[in-house]
Amino acid sequence: MTAPLRNDVGGTASEASGTGTFRADVIAGLGAARKSLPPKYFYDAAGSRLFDRICTLPEYYPTRTEAGILTEHAADIGRAVGRQAILVEFGAGSLVKVRTLLDALEQPAAYIPIDISEKHLIAASGELAHAYPRLKIMPVVGDFTASLTLPQVSGGRVLGFFPGSTIGNFTPEEARRFLVEAGRTLGADARLVLGVDLKKAKERLEAAYDDAAGVTAAFNLNLLSRINRELGGGFDLSRFAHRAVFNSELGRIEMHIVSLEEQSVAVAGQMFHFACGETIHTENSYKYDLPEIRALADASGWHIEDAWTGDEALFGVFLLSRS
Ligand code: TRP
Repeated sequence: MTAPLRNDVGGTASEASGTGTFRADVIAGLGAARKSLPPKYFYDAAGSRLFDRICTLPEYYPTRTEAGILTEHAADIGRAVGRQAILVEFGAGSLVKVRTLLDALEQPAAYIPIDISEKHLIAASGELAHAYPRLKIMPVVGDFTASLTLPQVSGGRVLGFFPGSTIGNFTPEEARRFLVEAGRTLGADARLVLGVDLKKAKERLEAAYDDAAGVTAAFNLNLLSRINRELGGGFDLSRFAHRAVFNSELGRIEMHIVSLEEQSVAVAGQMFHFACGETIHTENSYKYDLPEIRALADASGWHIEDAWTGDEALFGVFLLSRS
């Protein structure tokens, strides 16, 4: 593994303390008329671990369904990109999903995982290096929603990998902009493997974001624990609850943290007031149908070379090339 390349993680000089932008974003989000917090702050060490558990939950079908599709079609993807591909993953997390692709690529030239969670990325890169001793791993610490500088490396075609329906965590307009930017980052001859969760019955969707074991609830509420730990926050977690609802008008799951009573909470030396039932909006997960994905690709300089939707059309994996 090469030394991690650090991109700007959204901060300035104050980022050195690790709390500069976190503090400013939290104060702005909790101070707004409709409270919200940016989802990128979910992924501290505890949050990253909880997220890995979400991916194995019985109700959370996306990870498992996507993995099945990838296993079935990795060879098709390998053929489409050819030898010595440079594989770039956006929001790489635990570097588990990528193994299916790596196994199907002929002598990949390099693997460039991009993730915002530095410790998690370094640890996961180390593990992957063990399993793939001949693979050149070049981790990049960064926010993939921003413009990125990738390490220079020579090889064959570039293959982007954006699994897990992370694209659904953008608004459709942000998703379009991300795909335009990814096209720029990856280059003219690139391919992109994109995983997208598909529209389906509301009950099925809501269960996936509100599991019986309470792991997604713990993941959502961990944001408050993180604020308590890192910003001297005074949240009492027993006075808040997790809520996930499908907003059918906007085609998205919304995650909120609900205040169970009227209360005031100190964070970073400021007081924030919560009405009973008031929520902090923490995440959206947009769901798409096939025409919507086609339109999104068309609008962002990509076209769909192949599309696989697996059993019950629960989830889509798309092989995109530049148009
Ligand atoms: N992008 C995935 C999704 O929307 C994973 C994910 C992101 C997620 N944030 C989440 C899953 C919060 C559960 C809860 O499904």
